Amino acid sequence: MSFAPELVVASSDDELAALGAELLGRAIDAAVRARGRALVALSGGSTPGPVYRALTELSLPWRDVVFAWVDERAVPPHHPRSNYRAAAAELDLDGALRAASTLRMRGGEAELEAEARRYEASLRALFGVARAVAFDAVVLGVGDDGHTASLFPGTGDVEIADRLVAAIPARPERGLEARLTLTAPVLREARLALVLAKGASKRPRLEQALTEGPLDEVPARLVREVAGHVAIVCDQAAAPAG
Ligand code: 6PG
Repeated sequence: MSFAPELVVASSDDELAALGAELLGRAIDAAVRARGRALVALSGGSTPGPVYRALTELSLPWRDVVFAWVDERAVPPHHPRSNYRAAAAELDLDGALRAASTLRMRGGEAELEAEARRYEASLRALFGVARAVAFDAVVLGVGDDGHTASLFPGTGDVEIADRLVAAIPARPERGLEARLTLTAPVLREARLALVLAKGASKRPRLEQALTEGPLDEVPARLVREVAGHVAIVCDQAAAPAG
């Protein structure tokens, strides 16, 4: 089957936030109607924040929503680099969205490998043993080096096939702290992959991501393999040519 993502090019930051939130909101609503709950995996990075904030303004069945994380840095939850902290603040999880449930990746654990296994077990329990871990929506970004989630190029991260959650070691030569991440087999099962990208540095990466080629060179190419719908919401600077 050919890869046919939905490409939405926003003309302003506000529009990007509103359109991203609308797509996410629709996926949440449809999942709750169809299956009684919506399981959503959130990315960190700078782009999703305004989308999460816009999402809080929608009227959705929050008590039936479970937020999990796509990836987390090896830091405690109150740390400025914590993806949990960033999303929890933007989603107002202590306020407007307090009815939603969360499944936090504990990036502050000394044994990241053990935490990866614990998180994997939580996902298996959440989705049901022997069922595919198919999130209703997964929010993804694209890094300037072509990574997505915490699956980095030239490392083989994206080829991890026997785990749902992986502990990614620190790579100080690249300025990267250790991380936890959902693996490619999980991201491939998503019913909706919402890819958010902003700024000119993302354009070549997005273009590569949409074009066939080695996965380990541009892990964001994983979006080509997602089972469900792929929606790319970007600004004009990041919009792929053609
Ligand atoms: C993270 C991520 C990562 C992110 C991209 C894009 O924790 O850093 O989850 O994969 O989505 O690096 O980040 P921006 O939104 O900042 O461009």
